[in-house]
Amino acid sequence: MTKTNIDKEQMTIVIVGHVDHGKSSVIGRLLADTNSLPKGKLEQIRQRCVQNSKPFEYAFLLDALKDEQAQGITIDSARSFFNTKKRHYIIFDAPGHIEFLKNMVTGAAHAEAALLVIDAQEGIRENSRRHGYLLSMLGIKQIAVLVNKMDLVDYKEKVFTDIVRDYSRFLSGLKIKPTAFIPISAREGDNIVRPAAKTAWYKGLSVLSQLDNFNKQDKVENLSFRFPVQDIYKFTEDKDDRRIIAGTVETGRINPGEGVVFLPSYKKSRIKTIESFNTPVLNQAVAGQAVGFTFDTQLYIKPGEIMVKDSDTSIKVSSRFKTNIFWMGHAPLIKNKTYKLKLAASRIAVMLAEVVNVVDTQDLHNIENKQQIDRHDVAEVVFETVKPIAFDLISEIENTGRFVIVDNYEIAGGGIILKISEDAKTLFDEHIQEREQVWEYGLVSLDERHKRYRHKSKFIVFCAQPDVELQKIAQAMERSLFQDKYNVYYLGISNILHGLDSDYVMAYKSRDEHIRRLGELARILTDTGQIFITTISDIDDYDIEKLKKLNAPNEIVVINIGENIFSN
Ligand code: GTP
Ligand code: MG
Repeated sequence: MTKTNIDKEQMTIVIVGHVDHGKSSVIGRLLADTNSLPKGKLEQIRQRCVQNSKPFEYAFLLDALKDEQAQGITIDSARSFFNTKKRHYIIFDAPGHIEFLKNMVTGAAHAEAALLVIDAQEGIRENSRRHGYLLSMLGIKQIAVLVNKMDLVDYKEKVFTDIVRDYSRFLSGLKIKPTAFIPISAREGDNIVRPAAKTAWYKGLSVLSQLDNFNKQDKVENLSFRFPVQDIYKFTEDKDDRRIIAGTVETGRINPGEGVVFLPSYKKSRIKTIESFNTPVLNQAVAGQAVGFTFDTQLYIKPGEIMVKDSDTSIKVSSRFKTNIFWMGHAPLIKNKTYKLKLAASRIAVMLAEVVNVVDTQDLHNIENKQQIDRHDVAEVVFETVKPIAFDLISEIENTGRFVIVDNYEIAGGGIILKISEDAKTLFDEHIQEREQVWEYGLVSLDERHKRYRHKSKFIVFCAQPDVELQKIAQAMERSLFQDKYNVYYLGISNILHGLDSDYVMAYKSRDEHIRRLGELARILTDTGQIFITTISDIDDYDIEKLKKLNAPNEIVVINIGENIFSN
């Protein structure tokens, strides 16, 4: 087996196509004709075929190499390697399209280009179409369609051009324009590595030249800078209150002195130093490096945020986005159920907001009016996270444009983000609107209560960083307002945690649900004309926004003690 040449550019490609159309034969040919096989391997297999009096097949090469894997040779069941002068190729023969999808959407395998094989004699079959669809869904734009077994149709140009015409038409419906159509014979080696005399009418490239002709995607270090925050370390020694923000640079590069912004919190700062384990301070952090950053200003941010350069305009922040997903869960993906979405370092509660369309992967027909996504469906859906998160569109940066959905501690689906969806009201806004619509008022108006109490009702929220003692301040305010004859009530947050949100319920609920309940309670208490005081640490702009909406139309006052925990 050829060793990976680390100096050479590397490209991963995938080969797909209908069963028996010749995928393994094409790979076998590519390995043999690029001299990428172990010495003597080809002869050995030919001999073996002679002994067993069966015709030699290039596809056997792959099986033989797989057998050798057991003997510790570097090839796995799905991958083969070969080299051209220009590149080192990894070709991924998807054992089945489900496996292939799973690897692609979870990021386990990532192909930059695809070879799609169609048997010239059999013509376009259902998997030719299905695989074309999956490539489009995954955003693989560089596709060469190999019209194989041309030897079986006497290398007739018309057979080829008919397939080109029909399949181009199908692909254009998916908005795919293949880079090339190549007439080949894997068996005879025609147009695989060398041009073939028998297809003199064909003026295009051989498969190998076409591969070398595919564009390499931008190297991750040349993309925009993305740093998902994994952890925040605080140093307490010697009154040192430095914070180090740790994680791995996903894409791009950054230097000390550069201005950055954290998303979704929109907090800004400037990089002071770049630290790394057991090495001197770094002058630059590049994609792939695990590093820690210190900053010019004190920052209060949370793990899961993405740090980008402050000049960056391409990253998105939203709680609603349109995606393509592939569902692998035993239980279907349904509405009104909370799942966990993992994107880069963030973990957030998510709900299925809208099903745009569902495709049956068996025959790729669109399933009408389907409102849930079953195992092995591919679908276009809108997701809504409980709070906005930062991400990229798959067309811009794949590393941060891809996510998985966790259901019951297991990865149940994977997807890619196509665009922000701002068209509809959020599920949260819908909830509030519905609640207000059915809100039942008594005969005493809030105005009358205000007059009686001689003050307005208000929801007062004290917040600070987790280590600040807020309770005493809030209690003192309650005492002082009470003495001044205000109708006031202080609610300790633990009363909610152990009451409304008692443990056995909260085991299934998130902190976000806790915030919602607090807001609902505030809406009721302020409606009684009270001044309602509470404290919450570790809260952000988005939580406050929710509390405001939940408590509306009544008033809210937010008091931040100590260091600013909000973005402005
Ligand atoms: P699966 O992995 O089972 O989906 O099949 P595959 O797409 O890998 O096809 P494979 O390479 O195993 O080839 C299937 C059959 O087609 C074999 O019998 C090959 O010998 C035959 N075949 C492949 N390429 C050619 C070709 O160019 N000409 C002819 N005549 N037969 C071919
Ligand atoms: Mg095969």
